[in-house]
Amino acid sequence: MSQMPIAVLVSGSGSNLQVLIDAMKARKLPISIQCVISNRADSQALERAQKAGIPCAQISHKQFERREDFDAALLARVRESGAHLVVLAGFMRILTHVFVTPLSGRLINLHPSLLPKYPGLNPHEQALKAGETTHGATVHFVNEELDAGPIIIQGQVDITHEHDAQVVRRRVQEEAEYKIVPLSVKWYAEERLALSGDKVLLDGSVLPPQGYQYNGETL
Ligand code: GRF
Repeated sequence: MSQMPIAVLVSGSGSNLQVLIDAMKARKLPISIQCVISNRADSQALERAQKAGIPCAQISHKQFERREDFDAALLARVRESGAHLVVLAGFMRILTHVFVTPLSGRLINLHPSLLPKYPGLNPHEQALKAGETTHGATVHFVNEELDAGPIIIQGQVDITHEHDAQVVRRRVQEEAEYKIVPLSVKWYAEERLALSGDKVLLDGSVLPPQGYQYNGETL
């Protein structure tokens, strides 16, 4: 099977990026990561990319006066890489139409909550404060609204006995994010996943608004 060129945008430690790198190297994902772009120079994700021999770039949002100008620079770098799919894996900047519109249907984001609950910052703290017993993570196609695009997949985590947001964060990463990010990338690379208007199609069928519910599948 041919390998789909992808770009991964990051801001932090890059543990989700690492999961993609490892699965790619183990030939479990038909992808070729063409570039990793971070908006932060201190992102550990850049080291992970370098170690894996993947071209990477740091484009600081602070260099630009307007959000749109940063987005245009980001888009130019993505285009230069030849990526077809762009994955936002812990990328902590709000993107404008300048970036989002040209990549419609080719841009996916990871958010650590069961959207539409708790978009934006501090979702784990919010879920705990609200007394949620079930929490988790979502991968969705990106539109211009923050954390609100059509949902591809969600992974649920039982947090009934949790009180500490850091523990919840780690559990959501390990039990949901590291499973649903590679799975959605795999489906996309295998051309099984598509955005049609505001609907998500998996194997030609429209997914429900809350997306596919992760059920322990492996790559
Ligand atoms: C992830 O938990 C993601 O959900 C959140 O930021 C974190 C990034 O982690 N938005 P990493 O950089 O992949 O380790």
